[in-house]
Amino acid sequence: MRTMSGKSLFKSGSLEAALWAQIDPAAMPRHIAIIMDGNGRWARQRGQPRVAGHRAGVKAAREVVESCARICLPVLTLFAFSLDNWKRPPQEVDFLMKLLRQYVRRDLDYMRRNNVRLRVIGRWQELPAAVRADVARAVEETAANTGLQVVVALNYSARAELVDAVAALLREARHNGLSHVDEAELAAHLYAADLPDPDLLIRTSGEMRLSNFLLWQLAYSEIWVTETLWPDFSTAHLLQAILDFQQRERRYGGLSPAAERARRSPGVTATGGGRARSPRGALLPR
Ligand code: FPP
Repeated sequence: MRTMSGKSLFKSGSLEAALWAQIDPAAMPRHIAIIMDGNGRWARQRGQPRVAGHRAGVKAAREVVESCARICLPVLTLFAFSLDNWKRPPQEVDFLMKLLRQYVRRDLDYMRRNNVRLRVIGRWQELPAAVRADVARAVEETAANTGLQVVVALNYSARAELVDAVAALLREARHNGLSHVDEAELAAHLYAADLPDPDLLIRTSGEMRLSNFLLWQLAYSEIWVTETLWPDFSTAHLLQAILDFQQRERRYGGLSPAAERARRSPGVTATGGGRARSPRGALLPR
């Protein structure tokens, strides 16, 4: 296993080590976003209340954060609570708020020690005061950290984010004479405008939906869906998703490099994609 120090990142002989050995460190995603779905179904399968699924979901989130820090991923965004989640029974919402408070309190020490910066996107200022206070403390106390940025989407809705961006633009038009809007101007008014767009979106539990998550930022992201329910999601799934991501050819609406070469030299037949397809295969059932 390769690290700068030559030390192993994952236990020798483990599935994680085998997956990591196949990952190209020069083609790592800069930003991974995750829709953590399936906590309720995980609990139901075990005859447990939904909240048990959420508790197990926090453990899975913790493992993924730690693994992302270990592999030096720059940005991880987790969809923790959507504006639409208020439609759930009040007891479940209260429990989710309690779990979030516990997470930011208990894991603050880990974040400090591991140079992790916590950020929040969404209308989180509208959350109960105690939640706001705990979240704000963790955000402030990790603000100077320069390693992994963990962005928690809290009370988040992508449509609300776009509405908030347009409202901010209108204010600037009124007060500062802004008279022209282009993509860069709108993107500059999103909640975390300095971050790169996600390269990879992971969704668990097999659902094929974006669920009002980062609609602007996901325009060109690669999507990886697993049937695995969120509480069962592990480091091995994360590494498999990165490995599969590295097999994708991202064209951003243009041509593949092979097709582009063929266009420039019409006598040459286009074969294959831009990146050589290696025999690297899936090691995990998906
Ligand atoms: C979806 O499962 C999950 C959520 C509503 C988000 C809750 C996420 C966690 C508790 C993970 C913790 C995250 C952090 C950052 C601490 P669901 O209830 O929709 O599952 P279902 O579709 O099977 O009912």
